[in-house]
Amino acid sequence: MKAGSNRIEAVVTDVVAVNELVKRFHFERPDGGILPTFSGGAHIVVEMRDDGRTRLNPYSLMSSPLDTRDYTISVRRDDVGRGGSLFMHSRVKPGQSMVISNPVNLFSLDLRAKKHLMIAGGIGITPFVAQTSQLAGEGGNFELHYSCRSDALATYADVLKQRHGRRIHVYRDDHDEKLDLPRLLAGQPLGTHLYVCGPAGMITWVRNTAAAAGWPAETVHYEHFAAPQPGKPFDVTLAVSGIGIRVGEHESLLEAIEAAGLDPPYLCRGGVCGQCETNVISSDGKFLHNDHWLSEEEHRSGCKIMPCVSRFEGKSLVLER
Ligand code: FES
Repeated sequence: MKAGSNRIEAVVTDVVAVNELVKRFHFERPDGGILPTFSGGAHIVVEMRDDGRTRLNPYSLMSSPLDTRDYTISVRRDDVGRGGSLFMHSRVKPGQSMVISNPVNLFSLDLRAKKHLMIAGGIGITPFVAQTSQLAGEGGNFELHYSCRSDALATYADVLKQRHGRRIHVYRDDHDEKLDLPRLLAGQPLGTHLYVCGPAGMITWVRNTAAAAGWPAETVHYEHFAAPQPGKPFDVTLAVSGIGIRVGEHESLLEAIEAAGLDPPYLCRGGVCGQCETNVISSDGKFLHNDHWLSEEEHRSGCKIMPCVSRFEGKSLVLER
């Protein structure tokens, strides 16, 4: 995707406080027309115009892929993040015009699977809300295991139970309920695919447990978006364009490149798709790699950076852009 292409003018039709941390946002076309189709697991990028700065944050679609009259996302407030979730929580109101991207799916269901076994943690529940709607509509075989802190933060657990009954299993930390993952994995029929979305630690735990139990890597799917982190400002020279830019404390390198008028490619803006990969021409300092795309060796080499999530601390950085 290029910034500036695939943009959809939308209007916010509803904002709902789901619990103390999560708000839900509904988008429709201004003329009420149908939005582009998508499949469960897709995300959109929401453009936020915040006092002269543009933020573009990805959020999973959680509305049903079978009904694209509106798109729905949920945003968990992050009080120590770069401000995107705070902008959504405090500044976005019903009736407001916003720009969103076409949906992109980097966490799609493998429809060859005989059964879909889903593991969610916290706000990682959102792509599964769409995927379970899709599978229920198609008569698919699925089961969802959802870990959350408490009943109060069991976002959408009631809705999912109402829709899908005994296929939904909820584990609350404050009730000392814990998913017995090795046992769950051991009891699955041949042809089952495993999906996980949640905190990084949970994704690692599920992937490692599945690998230890002999699950082939191609049957294990995960959504591992990294949110860009704030950090010290740093200067960058873009050699091809012949310009110098400064990356602000609450800005990602990708956003700073875009703010300078360039149109670099991206899809996920979360360090997983590889689209924004950029060659480093020279550097004198330390890279703060936050992506899940480059290998450890590539991180160590200092020859590449993923500008959507990674930062730099040091004297000089020259990129091939
Ligand atoms: S945009 Fe996907 S890794 Fe950077």
